[in-house]
Amino acid sequence: MIHINDNYLKLKASYLFSDIAKRVAAHQQRRPEPAVIRLGIGDVTRALPDACVSAFHSAVDEMGADASFRGYGPEQGYEFLREAIAENDFQARGADINADEIFVSDGAKCDTGNIQEIFDGRSRIAIPDPVYPVYLDTNVMAGRTGDYRNGRYEGIVYLDGSADNGFVPDLPEEPVDLIYLCFPNNPTGATITKSQLKAWVDYAVASKAIILYDAAYEAFIRDDTLPRSIYEIDGARQVAIEFRSFSKTAGFTGTRCAYTVVPRSLMAYTASGDPHPVHSLWNRRHSTKFNGVSYPVQRAAEAVYSDVGKRQVAELIDYYMTNADLIRQAMQSLGYPCIGGKNSPYIWVSTGGKSWAFFDMLLEKTGVVCTPGAGFGTCGEGHIRISAFNSHENVSTAMSRIRQALS
Ligand code: MLT
Repeated sequence: MIHINDNYLKLKASYLFSDIAKRVAAHQQRRPEPAVIRLGIGDVTRALPDACVSAFHSAVDEMGADASFRGYGPEQGYEFLREAIAENDFQARGADINADEIFVSDGAKCDTGNIQEIFDGRSRIAIPDPVYPVYLDTNVMAGRTGDYRNGRYEGIVYLDGSADNGFVPDLPEEPVDLIYLCFPNNPTGATITKSQLKAWVDYAVASKAIILYDAAYEAFIRDDTLPRSIYEIDGARQVAIEFRSFSKTAGFTGTRCAYTVVPRSLMAYTASGDPHPVHSLWNRRHSTKFNGVSYPVQRAAEAVYSDVGKRQVAELIDYYMTNADLIRQAMQSLGYPCIGGKNSPYIWVSTGGKSWAFFDMLLEKTGVVCTPGAGFGTCGEGHIRISAFNSHENVSTAMSRIRQALS
């Protein structure tokens, strides 16, 4: 008899954003008017930058002629894209990362979800609360979390976020091996300073731990004193893997391109305590289970780094950040304390009470979709997340509906 991986039975019935999509569909059936405005899942709404579209088109044309056609590409990504990433995203900011330490993929969700499988099943895992649910769920699937009791998994070290610590968690009191960090944070929009991040790097060096640093929202950082990459911190090459994405930066949620950085100097340890390069493990995993991102998509991503591409991406980010300002101001003027929205497309609103109840009330009264904080962990209770990814028109309509309903 074939048995299931019964770790799956420890998961909540469905993934947060699928759950929300179902509730919204049911609401629309019941109340088609006013039209729903989606400020829930962080999905971009604006077109790809023109520079990316032209590069995409030309690459498709190349694929249409025998002389320039390409079959399988390198699983790790084409050299042209890896070089552009290393130079622009890292070396230009003084971070020592080389092209051969970059693995191009089809999403940071997949990479942050898959990375755990190259580490020992008994590794002690530290996960912030609240945070993007993929880190926790994929460790549940892998059987690392123990049982779920009273809203938490027994085997996880939760790093609690609150208004008191500005949703930048303190170092754990107990020893851990793998630490997930996400800045600018999803869902809270909180950012970490260089000195706070240095404390995490020092902790990881001292305890031979690894930090899994999700920087998918770095493009929204406007305060130049904040780190965009963990590799801007001394020592990070020894202890950190970083995840980046073109999804939110350049509107690639439907186009799919991201990358993961695994420095060659990063070591994990064998059962006998010998250091082993993590790069070779991830390379083995990636080339066995992944066949690379399509050539036209990689050309489109490369165009993000052209002069015109950089300008267009900056305009795109500014567009969404204008929405973020509007949302933060509207919610604050209604008396709800907010964080985020300054260096992040997410505004984390303190509503008090049960966050799913607030979600339902908001949907019912205004047709506006947000994300309930409890979906990101128990410390998310009493909050909702509002996303700035929508048109100015929709965001401003959403805010007037909210003002009318809640003031
Ligand atoms: C979110 O809304 O948290 C993100 O869009 C989810 C994701 O990037 O997978």
